[in-house]
Amino acid sequence: MVKNILEVRDLYLYYKTYKGIVQAVDGISFNIPEGQTLGIVGESGCGKSSTANTIIRLLPKNTYKYEGSIKLNGEEITTIPMDEFRRTIRWRKVAMVFQGAMNSLNPVLKVGFQVAEPLIVHLGMDKSEALDRARQVFEKIGLTPAFLDRYPHELSGGMRQRIVIAMAMIMNPQLLILDEPTSALDVSIQAQIMNLLKSLKKEYHLSMIFITHDIALASDISDLLAVMYAGEIVEYGPIEEVLLNPQHPYAQKLIASIPRLREDKEPEFLPGNPPGLINPPKGCRFASRCPYRFEKCSEAPDLVWINGNHYVKCHLYSEGK
Ligand SMILES: Nc1ncnc2c1ncn2[C@@H]1O[C@H](COP(=O)(O)OP(=O)(O)OP(=O)(O)O)[C@@H](O)[C@H]1O
Ligand SMILES: [Mg+2]
Repeated sequence: MVKNILEVRDLYLYYKTYKGIVQAVDGISFNIPEGQTLGIVGESGCGKSSTANTIIRLLPKNTYKYEGSIKLNGEEITTIPMDEFRRTIRWRKVAMVFQGAMNSLNPVLKVGFQVAEPLIVHLGMDKSEALDRARQVFEKIGLTPAFLDRYPHELSGGMRQRIVIAMAMIMNPQLLILDEPTSALDVSIQAQIMNLLKSLKKEYHLSMIFITHDIALASDISDLLAVMYAGEIVEYGPIEEVLLNPQHPYAQKLIASIPRLREDKEPEFLPGNPPGLINPPKGCRFASRCPYRFEKCSEAPDLVWINGNHYVKCHLYSEGK
């Protein structure tokens, strides 16, 4: 049996705003077996980045509720005191490539130094040793040592994204979270970054969370897929199960919206918008857009088991279809 690197149970992250409480992550659960990649997909604002932030515990000041269990290699990490979490978990065991990070590199520092800096600051390494380590990581991610001395503005988007990945990899994490790592890149560069991530996954047995709104892209690298809708995971399972046999009406619509080269069927689109996360509907959150809704949908469905490792949160299944 493969060991789980991450086990998340009933995880919540709510934010307080002057308009009310935003229920950004609302009781989600999932596992990631060691060396595997979980894709998280869903429309903008459904809570993907918030989910990632809970794991690396980067919570904004207006956090209202942060609850649930996150086990890394079997160890509960939500209750570790903050300074210990910073010293032992963040960047060392779990690292993250933030959404849009390639545009927030420090413009006045050489990228080699930016990659090496945590080793100097956190591990007390001297500068030349740290730069040496940065050089090794550059090699891993397909950059020649000459890039160490470049400034961010001298690099293309794809190169800058490689630098951001190097920053996340510098402390040899076991779990790498990638939040929309390719959405700002054109398709050919996107493909290069995907190939790089796939080779890192394979060569270093790295476990990953790959966040994207693009389900086709997620399928390129993921072993498991979680479909999020309005703060909840509505479907979770092995990637081929979810893609070939989607159960939740939202997942079915998402998959039917992927254009196919060799099919006459037009891609479908999903009318309407997700509900706001301040006072979301009490029942199923997808009900207002769902072609199959019935009376029961005014109550919140549970996540129910379909088969193997495949789960869905929909009354069609708790009722028997
Ligand atoms: N600090 C915050 N305070 C209040 N609301 C927030 C905060 N951060 C995020 N939100 C809200 O929480 C919800 C989830 O946001 P999140 O960024 O996690 O979504 P996302 O799925 O990553 O979206 P995208 O695809 O656009 O990146 C959104 O409604 C967002 O506006
Ligand atoms: Mg996001």
